[in-house]
Amino acid sequence: MSSIISASLLGCDLARLGEEAERARLAGVDWLHYDVMDGNFVDNISFGLPVLYSLNKATDMPIDVHLMINSPEKYVERFVSLGADRVCFHLEASKDPVGTLDLIRNCNAGAGIAIRPHTPAEAVFPYLEHADMILVMTVEPGFGGQEFIPETVGKISEIREELERRSLSAHIQVDGGINPQTAEIVKNAGADVLVAGTYLFGSEDMKAAVSRLR
Ligand code: DX5
Ligand code: ZN
Repeated sequence: MSSIISASLLGCDLARLGEEAERARLAGVDWLHYDVMDGNFVDNISFGLPVLYSLNKATDMPIDVHLMINSPEKYVERFVSLGADRVCFHLEASKDPVGTLDLIRNCNAGAGIAIRPHTPAEAVFPYLEHADMILVMTVEPGFGGQEFIPETVGKISEIREELERRSLSAHIQVDGGINPQTAEIVKNAGADVLVAGTYLFGSEDMKAAVSRLR
């Protein structure tokens, strides 16, 4: 089965966001990954609602929003109304994961739940029925361009096995340090949605880069 490729816009030239989105589309990228950081849940601040509004006007591509923010439930409806097709929030930032996943689905968006590298796989098991996607962070969230953490690979297999045992079809997304070498490792472990920022936007020939990841 061929993987879904989501290009992390954090790695692009943000002054030319619309053109970079078009470059990704022409290269055969499937989704645009939109990283929202609040300076609290993670130690960085990126972009938020007004930029999403402009991006959504500039592209027809599916937008995959990754919320690295506290109190994600407060912002779900606004992100969806401004163009998010999928919204993923962090388990560690949520007081009510089931309520937040159901809220996302009720907004007609794909519901995702993310875990940091040190959060065990079993921590998401209670929520698998409510989720369309599980995001296993393969770096500490907050910055692009970091090195892949190999200790996260076992969690991908554990979650894939649990999904299969319960006959669930949620996607497993990985994010952080993805390049052709690490892509091979995470795909073998059971990931089917690969996020890449630095590798894709840093490549001269993005089309070739996309096929190397797939
Ligand atoms: C990190 C972000 C990632 C990041 C990935 O907190 O969630 O999406 O942009 O970037 P690379 O591919 O450079 O590791
Ligand atoms: Zn991300």
